[in-house]
Amino acid sequence: MPKSLIEFRDWSATEITNLLNFSIQIESEKRTEKSFQKVVALFFFEASTRTRVSFEMACYREGLQFVSMLTKNGTSLEKGETLEDTLENVRAMQPDLMVVRSGDDLQQVEWATKLKIPFISAGWGQKAHPTQALLDLRALLKKGRKISDIKMVIIGDVKHSRVASSHFELAQKLGYQVAVLSPEKVALPSSVKELSSLDEALSWGNVLMSLRFQFERHEKKLEEEALKKFQISAAKIKNWKADGHIMHPGPVNYGVELNEDIKSEKRNLILDQVESGVWIRRACLNYLLKDQS
Ligand code: CP
Repeated sequence: MPKSLIEFRDWSATEITNLLNFSIQIESEKRTEKSFQKVVALFFFEASTRTRVSFEMACYREGLQFVSMLTKNGTSLEKGETLEDTLENVRAMQPDLMVVRSGDDLQQVEWATKLKIPFISAGWGQKAHPTQALLDLRALLKKGRKISDIKMVIIGDVKHSRVASSHFELAQKLGYQVAVLSPEKVALPSSVKELSSLDEALSWGNVLMSLRFQFERHEKKLEEEALKKFQISAAKIKNWKADGHIMHPGPVNYGVELNEDIKSEKRNLILDQVESGVWIRRACLNYLLKDQS
């Protein structure tokens, strides 16, 4: 069975660590050689900037060809063809690997098995965003932080977050600590701590992972005053740990979860996360394609 990366349940801690180390090794080697002449199919059935462009960059940098479906427009989805039929039809054209972003409606794990092709999730509804969690860790490793020292507080719209879901899974595999600070009660794995204020988050955590409020998925409007409790600003973190890190998977609603002044904050790792995204995706493409060689 070809290997997939959707959830981390089929991945051992050693495999994940090897993948993270490989993503760092290829940067230090200044690797430019073209390793394969294979074709990747990119499907983005939901909007994306960072993930889509970084997968395209990763393909170019690894000498891979890619075909892509990036919007419904101009495809047979407009004529009512389903996502599942779309995947099966493109599969019949024999790409070597598929990268898929979709909502919860597509059963990614089931379809990865059915399609019998290496499959990387580029985001799956509220369930998983494995390459995002990996690139977040890589950005922290590059700053010299040890995985076992990470105390990550995930702040904001945890209920709707696939990034949070993937960190819960990955933290259990690799042994870093995660807590959440959320406006809504959410079901959490027993390993995840629930915090009740930003002060508590600042005292417990050394990494603050702010999340976008996904207003498009909200049934009830959150009051501005309630949202303010989750906003990180330079003033609020003035006396926080000098070696702490502020992260956000993007896109950021500046003025909501982060104040604009965080852009010039030294502890801000947001663009380091984006940079790490290309290396992680290069490593994942390599890893899963090598599995087929
Ligand atoms: N972090 C992330 O997945 O961003 P995009 O939606 O822009 O890909």
